Amino acid sequence: MRIVSVVGARPQFVKLAPVSRAMSSVHEHGGPVIEDIIVHTGQHYDPGLSDIFFSELQIPEPGIELDIGSGSHGRQTAGMLEGIERVLLDVGPDMVVVYGDTNSTLAGALAAAKLRIPIAHVEAGLRSFDRDMPEEVNRIVSDHVADILFAPTVTAMENLAKENLAERSVLVGDVMLDAIRFNSNLSAQRSEILSILNLENRPFGVATLHRAANTDSDRLLVLLDALNRVARDLLPVVFPVHPRTVSRIGTECPDWQPGPGLSLIDPVGYLDMIRLTDAASVVLTDSGGLQKEAFFLNTPCVTLREETEWPETVDAGGNVLVGAAPDRICEVVSQVLGELRDNGKQPSFSAEQYFGDGNAAGKIVNGIIDFVRR
Ligand code: UD1
Repeated sequence: MRIVSVVGARPQFVKLAPVSRAMSSVHEHGGPVIEDIIVHTGQHYDPGLSDIFFSELQIPEPGIELDIGSGSHGRQTAGMLEGIERVLLDVGPDMVVVYGDTNSTLAGALAAAKLRIPIAHVEAGLRSFDRDMPEEVNRIVSDHVADILFAPTVTAMENLAKENLAERSVLVGDVMLDAIRFNSNLSAQRSEILSILNLENRPFGVATLHRAANTDSDRLLVLLDALNRVARDLLPVVFPVHPRTVSRIGTECPDWQPGPGLSLIDPVGYLDMIRLTDAASVVLTDSGGLQKEAFFLNTPCVTLREETEWPETVDAGGNVLVGAAPDRICEVVSQVLGELRDNGKQPSFSAEQYFGDGNAAGKIVNGIIDFVRR
């Protein structure tokens, strides 16, 4: 059985890892031999956003690298579409697997749909109901052209049913929970990030910021100032800065400076990020993946957006949506720290209740095999 997995951006490497591992082990358990050809579009090309994830997550080297790189949405997606089509015609897979909601997801799904090659979408059914987000358009289009939709949560299944996609949808749980369960011991053993940053046995927060809505508008300076306030008044904050954000700080607010307590660092690999998130008292982020990772690791999250694709994390009390309002951000961080002090320990959010049993990848691979055999 021949599969093509299309990835290109950092969060997709994390989602691919457990699925790739499950595909390579299925034969040992009496299943078919699956040849999984990984196509890397090159959307993320910095070694710190790409290579380190392949090595740490033990993902096989991509069979094909398209080296598309950055560009406007149209240009970037078009370049990928052309490159992926060429690969698919050449390789003739039984199925194409796409992950998440980036431009690489959209391009992989469209290229396969036009060639009438069956498509599986991993992490289907997420909706922010905000079409200003490029990811929302990518999700909707990918879900509607895909043949099998692997949904991570009950909410995602409900979203798919509302769009008449229930028949193609399967609830499998979240592959990012698989990834964290597989790697958290490894992260605790191998990552030295806490000692490098002098954070051992100290309360601290972790922040990330990269969404276009936050970086490509006036909100950027507001949020950067809010992080400065949190770091100055409440607790030290480590901020691994995405390249998009570095470049926007340079063009939109070149005079902004990190204040006392706020440490800007280069993007970190998966094992270091898990270590930081696990040890932190609070996470401040606009990333979808990090909201969940914080939840899985029982670290309270303050989300710098007005909506989330992961409402379960909010309903369960692990996540608060604060948008870009500095007073509210400080107030919620301060509440979180107060609760930590009062309870004397981290909360417990019971990830399994909402995100499956940590074997989403096994269910996805079985679903793919069944689909292809039919
Ligand atoms: C992309 C995804 C987003 C995902 C994020 C994870 C889309 C529309 N967005 O956003 O859903 O959450 O990845 O990180 O697909 N750049 C570099 N080096 C790189 C990659 C990017 O310097 O390796 C810079 C370039 O200046 C580029 C900018 O970052 O123009 C934006 O990169 P792009 O891949 O278009 O989107 P992300 O913001 O990374």
